[in-house]
Amino acid sequence: MSEKADIKACLFDLDGVIVDTAKYHYLAWRRLCNELGFDLSEAENESLKGISRVESLEILLRKGGVSLAQTEKEAMMSRKNGWYLEYVDAMHADEILPGVREFLTSVKKSGRKIGLGSASKNALPILEKIGVMPLFDVVIDGTQVSKGKPDPQTFQLGASALEVHPDNCVVFEDAAAGVEAARAGGMYAIGVGDDAILTGANLVIPGFEGIDTDIFNKL
Ligand code: G6P
Ligand code: MG
Repeated sequence: MSEKADIKACLFDLDGVIVDTAKYHYLAWRRLCNELGFDLSEAENESLKGISRVESLEILLRKGGVSLAQTEKEAMMSRKNGWYLEYVDAMHADEILPGVREFLTSVKKSGRKIGLGSASKNALPILEKIGVMPLFDVVIDGTQVSKGKPDPQTFQLGASALEVHPDNCVVFEDAAAGVEAARAGGMYAIGVGDDAILTGANLVIPGFEGIDTDIFNKL
């Protein structure tokens, strides 16, 4: 990477970056854990952020010391997803996180490309629901990746679909696993959230309010 960042594309994680669905994933996982006889704290949930549904379930079963047959695992994932989708269905378009729509618009106006890089298989209906789909040039979601974050595959697919070199890409992520994935792919990472958690990022912002494309000068 050169001394000064030359950003030509932005890749966004979805849950917890564009929209506040991270809290719904947590509530649905906690409900499942409670049914299985153990609890899930917010701090424990942090390590699930950015992690695929199947991998998250494995982590939780290990934590709870529960072993299940494959068919039971499938049933648990589908219950969790059913609860999650109930929250999503009840969600309003205004649950887009503060400043995100404005930031996406400023990136678009600057001529840079915009991609999504999410582990979620529910990404498309969520993007539709909050009305930002037309701003995205490319969407990479959990239906297209074989290696989840922290593997860089999600963002590498995004960069290559946008035809932008990783050196010229910046990833916005709220999860430690996502920041790691971006860095492993040779891209810049801007953490969204707590800088004590997102230590691997080039820069951490608390959210998008007041943020515009000048942020790229700080990389
Ligand atoms: C994102 C979230 C994770 C979630 C994963 C899969 O990465 O941060 O919490 O487990 O997507 O989402 P899905 O909607 O397919 O269950
Ligand atoms: Mg996230």
